[in-house]
Order: sequence, then C-alpha cells, then structure tokens
Amino acid sequence: MSLVIAIDGPAAAGKGTLSKRIAQAYGFAHLDTGALYRAVGVSVLRAGGDPADADAAAQAARALRPDDGILNDPALRSDEAAQAASKVAAVPAVRAALLDFQRTFAATPPGGAPGAVLDGRDVGTVVCPNADAKLFVTASVEVRAERRLKELRERGIPAIPSDVLEDMKARDTRDSQRTVAPLLPAADAFVLDTSALDADQAFAAATAFIGTKTGFG
Ligand code: DC
Repeated sequence: MSLVIAIDGPAAAGKGTLSKRIAQAYGFAHLDTGALYRAVGVSVLRAGGDPADADAAAQAARALRPDDGILNDPALRSDEAAQAASKVAAVPAVRAALLDFQRTFAATPPGGAPGAVLDGRDVGTVVCPNADAKLFVTASVEVRAERRLKELRERGIPAIPSDVLEDMKARDTRDSQRTVAPLLPAADAFVLDTSALDADQAFAAATAFIGTKTGFG
C-alpha cells in the first residue's frame, strides 16, 4: 500500500515548492493536481471555447490524457491558464472526470515509488480522504500576491501589483465559494501558515508533522 500525503491550499501559498521537496526527500512520486485543471482550461481555450462553458469543459476533461506529457506544457503556467483552470474546476463533471487519474496515481504511484504526494485544493477532502498525512498550506492573500509578483518578474513577465492582488482574490473567491469540492482544510489537516516562514522553515514544520503521523522521515 502506498503512503499518501495530501497537500492542499490556496494559490501561491507555497504548496508546489513544498510538495516537490517532500516528494524528493522521501523518494515519493508527486502529482500537481492543479496542472490537470490547467490542462483542461488550456484545451478549452485552444479549441476557441469558453472555460466557463460547462459542456466544453467537461468534454475537454474527458478527452484529457494526463500521461501524454501535457502536464509539463509551459503554457499551463500562464495567468490566463490559471484563471481558465479556476473556471473549469467549478464544473462537477470536470472534477469527476479527473478523479480516477488522481486516485490511481495515489494508490499505485508511477515508477513503483513507495508513496505519493498530491497537491491541490481538495486532495485531503475529496480525492484521498484516507491520506496518511494531510497538510493545508496557506498564507495571507497579500503575502501570496507578493510571491506571485516576484515569480512573474523572475520569469520576465511584466505585472502590476494591484492587478496581481485582485486576480488572487478573484481566484480565492471562486475556489472557496464553488459548491462542488470548495477549497477547505480537511478536519484532520495540519494547517501550516507560511506567511512568516521561508521554504526551509515550511519544510521543517511539514516533515515534523508527517513524521508524527506516519513515522516516516
Ligand atoms: O494550484 P493551481 O494554481 O495550479 O490550480 C489552478 C486552479 O485549479 C485553481 O484555481 C483551482 C483548481 N484546482 C482545483 O479546483 N482542485 C485541485 N485539486 C487543484 C486545482
């Protein structure tokens, strides 16, 4: 049986960096579940559709073949892809279509890894409610917008601070107020606020918690 670590939280809270680092430290496979929603959003946009159109989004989700390498497409990292992802993610049929892939990844991680780290919004609540350790990684919206701004600038993408903050708030609202699988900490999740922590401190706190839950590391 694979050991499963669920890491949820809002955008730019530091889940991605933390999840990759945990997976590497434990020799586990890592799945960025947000990339699945981004891939669906980008497919709809590329087909000339509207990501808020439930039928178009559901069709794209059912046609998605995550093993084909699409999850590594740099186009998924754009802000346009993020907004499209957040819209398709509110469609119940999209979420249903992506469930199997995520659960199979958790149960039988690729490469025969002894465990899996899945990060997203609903891993601990819906995808893997029986995960061995659940973390909810968060930070204030201002800190998250600041981090996103820095990341965009490092990638040479011009960005206006007030726009980044507004986009972050819009995505938070959409992700936490949707009726299906809203962004919410699982009752048994360890809430890790990274507002005042750097990556090393977040990693230390996360692995200390995982150690108490699993005896691992
Ligand atoms: O983590 P991210 O920024 O790549 O996620 C993109 C969008 O996908 C996010 O706004 C909400 C959605 N998402 C989701 O609804 N459920 C997940 N498990 C992961 C992401």
